[in-house]
Amino acid sequence: MDRVQLRLTQIFFLVLVLCVARGPNAQGLSYDFYDKTCPNVEKIIHNVVSQKLLEAPVAAAGALRIFFHDCFVEGCDASVLIASRESNKAERDAEINLSLPGDGYDVFFRAKRALELQCPGFVSCADVMAIATRDLVNLVGGPRWEVKKGRRDGLISKASRVDGNLPQVNQTIPQLISLFKSKGLSTMDMVALSGGHTIGFSHCKEFMPRIYGYNSTFDIDPTMNQEYARTLRSPCPKKHLDPTVVALNDVTTPFIFDNAYYHNLKKGLGLLASDQMLLLDPLTRGYVDMMAADQQLFFNFFVESMIKLGQVRVKTGSDASSNTVKLERDAEINLSLSGNGFDLFFRATTAVESHCPRVVSCADVVAIVPRDTGSMGPTPSVPLNARSSCTESMATSNLTWTQPWTKTMLKNDAQNDPTALTLDNAYYRNHLQKVFGPKNSGLCEFNGQRSRCVLQSLHHSHDQVGYYKGQDRERGRDHARLWII
Ligand code: HEM
Repeated sequence: MDRVQLRLTQIFFLVLVLCVARGPNAQGLSYDFYDKTCPNVEKIIHNVVSQKLLEAPVAAAGALRIFFHDCFVEGCDASVLIASRESNKAERDAEINLSLPGDGYDVFFRAKRALELQCPGFVSCADVMAIATRDLVNLVGGPRWEVKKGRRDGLISKASRVDGNLPQVNQTIPQLISLFKSKGLSTMDMVALSGGHTIGFSHCKEFMPRIYGYNSTFDIDPTMNQEYARTLRSPCPKKHLDPTVVALNDVTTPFIFDNAYYHNLKKGLGLLASDQMLLLDPLTRGYVDMMAADQQLFFNFFVESMIKLGQVRVKTGSDASSNTVKLERDAEINLSLSGNGFDLFFRATTAVESHCPRVVSCADVVAIVPRDTGSMGPTPSVPLNARSSCTESMATSNLTWTQPWTKTMLKNDAQNDPTALTLDNAYYRNHLQKVFGPKNSGLCEFNGQRSRCVLQSLHHSHDQVGYYKGQDRERGRDHARLWII
């Protein structure tokens, strides 16, 4: 393709991109969705995400891939965050998702927790994922775009529904195109989104068939830069392979979100077979050429495609209710239970889980917390009898969408009772003195909500360049990562 031809094609596609419908299902999403309920939502997420990136630069790629995997299975509804239970193997435990890194999950959990402290219950996990991913891409050098909000969280998360909905490295280009098409995404979207491989890592097993015994004629995939392939053999030996070792997806600028990925393809430096095929197949080659020729053009396409990806089968309005089992706490009489009260139990559970995961029952936490919070009063001993693990029961209920509610809380104890927050007998004294508390003033205003997103506590550390070890405690899986630069 000569330069004039290339430029004309670029202009044609740019016009096309700007003209076509913006997404598979944009209905019900809006930019101002949280303007009244959580006006600082973007700022809160941005702060958390920036901090996390300093601690673990690998989080950006991890989050981007998790977001992609979430959207392709059941739509962008955060169902990938739901933990498995004895009776249900969740999406995230499907074979292909086992390599999704703990740090990617952690950045979403942290952002959600920060939001819960400032505007509890209003922001869905699905929106947290869309906004945090946008910020992470932008913070590592990629473009920024406005995110429409209003996604609802799903409750269905089944490993059995993952198969066939996510791409595999050994699929042909026509197969990949048809998968993306089934999600409302075009061939060009597929090529632009694959540019996500400009950051992040792949485990050896994903590309080893290319570097050992490729076929009866070639030991190494002939479409691969042979020297590059040989250097990959050392961290990924045929024998005694360390399954935690990963290689850089973009060998030239691994931590920067740029269009180097497409340049690499032209030099045979694509790591995965599906990457390299994008250049080799006539159905996709033109797009690769375009993205390689002009980084800004790649960014424009990537933004459009990410917006479309973020709208794949989103649940909005009352869509989620069809998935929702009405819980005890959503019974009319329980709607007035304080969000802060629930929060206390959830926080206690989070702390307990991080020390002794899956041992202490929710029922016991619920019994101990009121005893301790009423510690100004007597401290009865609480008989404990752990029957279930909190994480199991919370795994689905965390993600329940309930309508956010605002409540004006009147202190039951008298406003002018100096011991209003202490468990004592002032209540009776007040009654005796005919002091019945405030009428309209001295109110403690707060937004309450009884659903919590995700409470898993993940601990990670970033040790040195080239070596990273993180642990996903909740699943007990080690996410050690070792790479050669
Ligand atoms: C076109 C088909 C695609 C295939 C076959 C594919 C396959 C893979 C595979 C096998 C890995 C390595 C996972 C590991 O070993 O840990 C990977 C990593 C990654 N993929 Fe894709 N992918 C595709 C498209 C996408 C898209 C559309 C995005 C983003 C929108 C994306 C984002 C990423 C990222 C960021 C990583 C690095 C994750 C990390 O560092 O933990 N991929 N992909």
